[in-house]
Amino acid sequence: MKYTEQLKQVLNSKFEYTPKANVQTFGCVQNENDSEKIRGILAQSGYDISENYEVSDIVIFNTCAIRENAELKIFGNIGKLKALKAENPNMIVAVCGCMVMQAHIVDKIKKSYPFVDIVFGVNSIEELPHIVYNWYVDNKRQISSPETKTEIVEDIPVYRESKSKATISIMYGCDNFCSYCIVPYVRGRERSRKPEDILSEFKQLIKEGYKDITLLGQNVDSYGKNLDVKIDFADLLTMLCKVDGDYVLHFMSSHPKDINKKVIDTIRDNPKISRQIHLPVQSGNDRILGLMNRKYTVQQYKDIINYAKEQIPDIGFSSDIIVGFPGETYEEYLDTEKLVKEINFTQLFTFIYSKRTGTKAAIMEDLTSHKEKSERLNRLVKIQQDIFFKYLDSFKGQTVRALVEEKKGDTYSARMANTLVVHFESEDNEIMDQFVNLKITGKKGTVLKADLIINQK
Ligand code: 5AD
Ligand code: SF4
Repeated sequence: MKYTEQLKQVLNSKFEYTPKANVQTFGCVQNENDSEKIRGILAQSGYDISENYEVSDIVIFNTCAIRENAELKIFGNIGKLKALKAENPNMIVAVCGCMVMQAHIVDKIKKSYPFVDIVFGVNSIEELPHIVYNWYVDNKRQISSPETKTEIVEDIPVYRESKSKATISIMYGCDNFCSYCIVPYVRGRERSRKPEDILSEFKQLIKEGYKDITLLGQNVDSYGKNLDVKIDFADLLTMLCKVDGDYVLHFMSSHPKDINKKVIDTIRDNPKISRQIHLPVQSGNDRILGLMNRKYTVQQYKDIINYAKEQIPDIGFSSDIIVGFPGETYEEYLDTEKLVKEINFTQLFTFIYSKRTGTKAAIMEDLTSHKEKSERLNRLVKIQQDIFFKYLDSFKGQTVRALVEEKKGDTYSARMANTLVVHFESEDNEIMDQFVNLKITGKKGTVLKADLIINQK
């Protein structure tokens, strides 16, 4: 962090105004969380955070590697900066995140994107002031090659846009090596933050008035495995829920092989924990789950869901599904359809399998056409849409609690603890970022409509 001050001095000498920084995020909530730290570091180093890349003095792309189309989109966006950079050579273009943790991508940037000034890795965020400082002092490209560092750096400043919603990383990396997934290669081995560091960040957020907090990890259910103290994810949840305050606690993602009865019982016993769990199943067929290296069967998945529904009747599950995994037959795909209809997921994120260089699945024979895979995806999306609309209808007439997030004209948008979005009209200007009680009157598209019934301040 000593370079923060040095960078500040360099910026002072180079600019007659406060320079602007724009950080664009691609990918998951973990990347959003990293971007908030990148913005925090840049703000502390003397930049104003801007939403507009065209007027910014440094533009950072925080990238995703999970599927090929994510990478193509990112390269398209980076390409757009070429002209801007030609007009303004003093603008810094930087690329970080999961995509640049792959050697072939760094090579491609080196060769084909000469206007990219800085490349830095997922676990090197805290080095940013030093890297930017070096760019100004050495006046040459700062391209670091991928290295998976494992130490956890605490006390990085965080720049949060929202006054009510926040995320906290409780662990980094992943050890599961699902055969299709690039994450363990780009984010490195799993390591957990110390419980006391998580607790102090959590307490601070509650003190600042945050009301919706999501704990993040690639597999939160294995929290604590590498720590010296004996603590698991359920213990962490119990510890956090002891903090006084009016808030909802979410977590993501869970892994079906690791979520257990203790976690479910902890949710049951702590009303502050959201009754909505994201539990990616990926496939409804045991042979495919085996090839994916998921380490559970469809029956084991159903067993934990049934236990949760017994213990917590109003619990809902959302999930991720991949169609067209190498070798998936039509019949095996139909098992996924069957499971989706049986579980009644509240929300489903469906993906066509994307080959990721370096993973085990990348060398498996894949003879199914893209057209066939798209058809499987479309069928699943349609099935889920019908389930989702019925789910929305089930709220009609109910009184619900939701956190107000946005206002457009006279229409407010609020989010229930189960993550459903509710729209309602109000002229009250003081309910922003507050919990309100709403009576659901119906739905419009994928959002619920409601009347405001009590204004709780
Ligand atoms: N192809 C398609 N989808 C993938 N996911 C992860 N890797 C791939 C891949 N190679 C999906 C999984 C995971 C979600 C975050 O992204 O469903 O749960
Ligand atoms: Fe990827 Fe599996 Fe780890 Fe999730 S648990 S990040 S799908 S390897």
